[in-house]
Amino acid sequence: MKTYIVGNWKLNFTVGEASIYLHKLLKNLPNYRDVEAVVAPPLIALQPLSLQVDRHKLKLAAQNGFYRDYGAFTGETSYTQMRGMADYAIIGHSERRYIFREDDKMVAKKVAAAIRNRITPILCIGETESERAFGETADVIRDQLIGGLSEVSDDDLDKVIIAYEPVWAISSVKAAKLATPDEVAEVVKLIRKVLKETYGAEFAESVPVLFGGSVNPSNAGAYLTVPGVNGLLMGGSSLILKEFLDIMETAKRVRS
Ligand code: PGA
Repeated sequence: MKTYIVGNWKLNFTVGEASIYLHKLLKNLPNYRDVEAVVAPPLIALQPLSLQVDRHKLKLAAQNGFYRDYGAFTGETSYTQMRGMADYAIIGHSERRYIFREDDKMVAKKVAAAIRNRITPILCIGETESERAFGETADVIRDQLIGGLSEVSDDDLDKVIIAYEPVWAISSVKAAKLATPDEVAEVVKLIRKVLKETYGAEFAESVPVLFGGSVNPSNAGAYLTVPGVNGLLMGGSSLILKEFLDIMETAKRVRS
């Protein structure tokens, strides 16, 4: 299985800045076999960057998209419109869930829409600090997993990536703490257990599961060696060229 290193630029960079950053990234990024580098630019930069990117080295992801393909949905952009531009789509990110009130039903429709448009969904799940404190982590993970995958047919399950991002460990959250590798291992094990019970062993073992939450060059190696983790989803570190390149290098080292 590949290792996935995914950078989520969130609401950072103008189109011009994104293009300059991409240029530098492509210049410095080796073509690693087995390590898939992906960045999610702001949506407004996706189209120009899709013409600039070298897809042998780097893939592009959508940060968001709407679940209907066309219609009277003022202000929305569909995965149909991003077809051929985005290879992946981040869906169910905690910032979408908690700031923009996206629930599991909407997440499920977006996952299905991405697949329908040949874009690989990266389904993000994770508990908040209070859910963890109240012992609800397992229920939240189960609900978000089963809810988020509810519109995916059995034949399409192999097109899905899962990302575990404990909300309390994401750097934009003020009370950020780091998740320990043991905490990550426990939840990743739970994710695969829920998937096995619901969809069978084959999917549970083969689906890539990424970790995200304040990943940086000094902790990336530890997270990448957690059993069952197949890659990283990062925000802050993906905005700093050297950090993204360092983490790619770590991913290559951990694999070999
Ligand atoms: P962070 O963001 O790496 O800045 O914590 C992770 C994410 O939100 O995906």
